[in-house]
Amino acid sequence: MLEINKGKIVGINGNMITVKFDTFVTQNEVAYAVIGDKKLKCEVIRIKGTNADLQVFESTNGLKVNDVVEFTDELLSIELGPGLLTMVFDGLQNPLDKLAERAGFFLEKGLYMPPLDEFKKWDFTPIVKVGDSVNAGDYLGQVPEGIYTHYISTPFDLKGTWKVENIIAKGNYKIREKIAVITSEIGEKKEVTMVQRWPVKIPITCYKEKISPEETLITQQRIIDTFFPVAVGGTFCTPGPFGAGKTVLQHTISQHAQTDIVIICACGERAGEVVEILKEYPYLEDPKTGRTLIERSIIICNTSSMPVAAREASVYTAITLAEYYRQMGLNTLLLADSTSRWAQAMREMSGRLEEIPGEEGFPAYLESLVANFYERAGLVKLNNGSLGSVTIGGAVSPAGGNFEEPVTQATLKMVGAFLGLSRQRAEARRFPSIHPLESWSHYKSIVNNKMLEAARRILRKGNEVNQMMNVVGEEGTSTDDFVIYLKSEFLDSVYLQQNTFDLIDGASDKERQQHVFTRVVNILDMGFDFKNKDEARKFFVELRQMFIDWNYMKFKSERFQYHEGSINSKLKEFAHA
Ligand SMILES: Nc1ncnc2c1ncn2[C@@H]1O[C@H](COP(=O)(O)OP(=O)(O)OP(=O)(O)O)[C@@H](O)[C@H]1O
Ligand SMILES: [Mg+2]
Repeated sequence: MLEINKGKIVGINGNMITVKFDTFVTQNEVAYAVIGDKKLKCEVIRIKGTNADLQVFESTNGLKVNDVVEFTDELLSIELGPGLLTMVFDGLQNPLDKLAERAGFFLEKGLYMPPLDEFKKWDFTPIVKVGDSVNAGDYLGQVPEGIYTHYISTPFDLKGTWKVENIIAKGNYKIREKIAVITSEIGEKKEVTMVQRWPVKIPITCYKEKISPEETLITQQRIIDTFFPVAVGGTFCTPGPFGAGKTVLQHTISQHAQTDIVIICACGERAGEVVEILKEYPYLEDPKTGRTLIERSIIICNTSSMPVAAREASVYTAITLAEYYRQMGLNTLLLADSTSRWAQAMREMSGRLEEIPGEEGFPAYLESLVANFYERAGLVKLNNGSLGSVTIGGAVSPAGGNFEEPVTQATLKMVGAFLGLSRQRAEARRFPSIHPLESWSHYKSIVNNKMLEAARRILRKGNEVNQMMNVVGEEGTSTDDFVIYLKSEFLDSVYLQQNTFDLIDGASDKERQQHVFTRVVNILDMGFDFKNKDEARKFFVELRQMFIDWNYMKFKSERFQYHEGSINSKLKEFAHA
């Protein structure tokens, strides 16, 4: 066996250690700082001559100069295989529930656990036969995992074409049992199990091609799907000030978006928030299956009390998991809350490395790291022709809600949709608090452009009238202008706002949105004969309530149909013939 490549600590600065080594080390290689009988995981982040700077994923308390560091010659990697769904991991893929059993909720230093169940048996069915040719990422077999088929692939880093020399028969096997032997053209042999390790900072690209995302990802949130849509395989961000509703919105999307797999990356806002996620999320009902949402989810979470470096790792772990399930022809949705914490981790390490800082102390390469992350999203055509996707939604929490800051700006350059959360809307309890005038999307809406433009025009004009009224008062405003304002308020209350916590209103499918939106735009287009503003106001108050009631009725139910009839009669009271 090769001797372990070792080094000695020559400097410690917070979570960064400087290590002198004898032979050679590689950038992003994993190493362990030895502290008594424990080993603390680190990653090489810079090499200068025979010194390497390493970020330690744990508190460095107790480490001393001259302590030994062992290099592993492996990049920071995670394990991919059946059993990932339902799991809660930290950024280094330690299973949190298992760790909690052993060590209490907060992790004991230097304690790492295998991420996947080593003993569980999976019902394996081979897909290939002896003699078949295989390339990187081709399926060798499959096991059922939850409601999905989990495909077991050849290693994603396989070079060239290999032949199947041996494939195990259908049966129940543990993840580390050998299921196949493959041979390269030059006779090299590889044993394959149901798990493989993959370096998190390198994208998995065993597919034919990336395709431009076209299809709208139905989130069942009206303001998103209709006004600021997200595409399957696209990217979006939800920046918002403290308390504006970022986390609630992400939960809502995770619950109602029409996707296969949900990956939640909670990068540590407040410690309490993560505990809330762990307590609540696993029990959220999955409207898709009637079971619990966790059965098709994976949660990666770190709290602010964990060292920053672990937070840096968590977004990479999360995206790698999303890419892994994409390889199976599934649609995965990755929601990261909040990427600002990730950026802060980068800032902290960059400071320790004494790099020349960019804007607000963030590293000058912040933009390219953010870009690399969002570029890992995408719709792809796999080797076998089927499609898979990764959609990324990142929350950003800029200090003071200032969207001009570097993280928000770097994110905005990359994403296909910007759903900006507004403090004013949150304070007015207009949820989801996505700003209807400032947000944008490059993706395709579920409604036609003409109707959308009509609705946008009313929102813009209504806002203008409202601002004018703030100056000249209602008396100084014409009835026509006032009606425009009432129409924009009507659109806002009955369509843009949605009650997340209501079973029916909380999730509005595509057909329902198209139906209701057509009705709403119809009303925005209508001319009315109002004698005065009071009459107009009274009418819209009543109409609004009728629509809100309608929103709470099951789509196409008898009540729903009947109520639509009442709305029609109501409209006849004042509408032009
Ligand atoms: N859709 C919603 N419906 C009703 N209330 C909401 C909604 N979204 C947010 N809220 C209210 O606002 C509060 C803050 O929301 P949330 O925790 O999502 O904000 P945040 O932007 O994630 O905050 P932080 O910056 O602290 O992470 C919630 O506890 C809830 O009371
Ligand atoms: Mg939050």
